[in-house]
Amino acid sequence: MHQILKVQISDNNEYLIDISDSSFAKLNQEIFEFTRGQKRLVVMSKKVYNLYSEDLNFDDDEILIFPDGEKEKNYKNYLKIIKRAFQLGLTRKDVIIAVGGGVVGDIAGFAASTYMRGIDFIQIPTTLLSAVDSSVGGKTAIDLPEAKNIVGTFYQPKKVFININFFETLDDKQYFSGLGEVLKYAFIEDCCGYNVPLFLFEFLTLSCTKILEREPLTIIRMIEYCLNLKIAVVTQDEKESCLRKILNFGHTLGHALESITKYKKYTHGQAVVYGMFFIIDWAYKKEYINYSYYRLSMELFEKYGFKPLDKKYPIEKLINIMKKDKKASSDKISFIVPCDKKKVKEIKLTPIEVEFALNDFVK
Ligand code: GLY
Repeated sequence: MHQILKVQISDNNEYLIDISDSSFAKLNQEIFEFTRGQKRLVVMSKKVYNLYSEDLNFDDDEILIFPDGEKEKNYKNYLKIIKRAFQLGLTRKDVIIAVGGGVVGDIAGFAASTYMRGIDFIQIPTTLLSAVDSSVGGKTAIDLPEAKNIVGTFYQPKKVFININFFETLDDKQYFSGLGEVLKYAFIEDCCGYNVPLFLFEFLTLSCTKILEREPLTIIRMIEYCLNLKIAVVTQDEKESCLRKILNFGHTLGHALESITKYKKYTHGQAVVYGMFFIIDWAYKKEYINYSYYRLSMELFEKYGFKPLDKKYPIEKLINIMKKDKKASSDKISFIVPCDKKKVKEIKLTPIEVEFALNDFVK
C-alpha cells in the first residue's frame, strides 16, 4: 500500500509525502533515486542505527549517529552536524537526511536550513509521533535548557518518506505517544479547512482495535487522515500567524508538564493527552461544549486506555512555564479550547484563571 500526499506551500515550494509499508529495499531505491548526484549527510538516531543500519543502504561515512532524547536537541549537537556537513564537503546542491524521531528531525532540519543558508532536507520519520506531526510542516528547532524549540526556522523538507515498517520496533510507550497526537486531530478536524469531511473522530472510535493491533492498512489510513488535516492547516498558515495555532490543542499544559518533569516522566504525546483532558474538562465546565460531546470525547480517550492526570504539580511553577511559552502574550496564557464538535478556538486566560482551572482539575 502506497499513499502520496502533496504539500503545496507556494507556487515554487511543494513536496511529496510518501506513506507506505513497502520493503526497506524499495525505500532504499527511492531514497537513492531522489538523492541521485547529491552528497548526503544522514543524521540517524542511535536507536534507529542499532536496529536498522543493516536494512538501510547508507555508507558509514555519510552517517552521523545522533544520541536519543530531548536534551540532545542542543546547540553543541547542532554544531556537530554543521561541522560534519562541512567535513564531508556538502555544498548548496547537497542534502541532509534525518532518520529518526522528532528530536533528530528538528535538529537536522535546523542544520539543513542554516548550512550555507539552506540546503535540501529529507525527513524519514521512524516513530508514529514524528510521522503524524514533526516531519511535516517545516518546523525546525533546537532547545535551551530553559526553553524548548526557542531557536528555529520554518523550513520545508524536499520529501518525506514514511515507512510504517519502522513502527514494528516501537514500544507501547512510544506508540501511544504517537496516538496522543493522532487523537488531537480528531478534535480540530472541522477547523482545518480540508476540502472533504474525513470523520476522523468516528474513524478513530470505530477502528480502535485495529489501530491498537497496529494493522498496517489502518495505520497508513490513520496517518494519511492526520496529515491531510495538518497539510490543510500549514498550507494556509505556514508560519503560525493564526490558524496553525490549532495544532497546539492540548499543548499548553502538555509542554508545561514535560518541562516540569524535565522531559523524563511523560512522552510528548502522553503530556498532550493530559493537556487535552484538562482543556476539554474546562470547556465543558464553562459551557463551550455540551455534555454529549464531552462524554464522547472522554469515551474516545478511554477506548485507547488514556486517563486524566492524577498527579499534582506546583501550580505556580506550571503557570510560570506557560507564561514563557512562545504563544503567551502580554501576561496571558494561550489555550486552544474545544468550542463545538470537532472545532476549537484560541482563548487567552490570565494566570489567575489558569490557577483556578488547574486547582479544579487535579484534586
Ligand atoms: N507541531 C505543531 C506544528 O507543526 O505546528
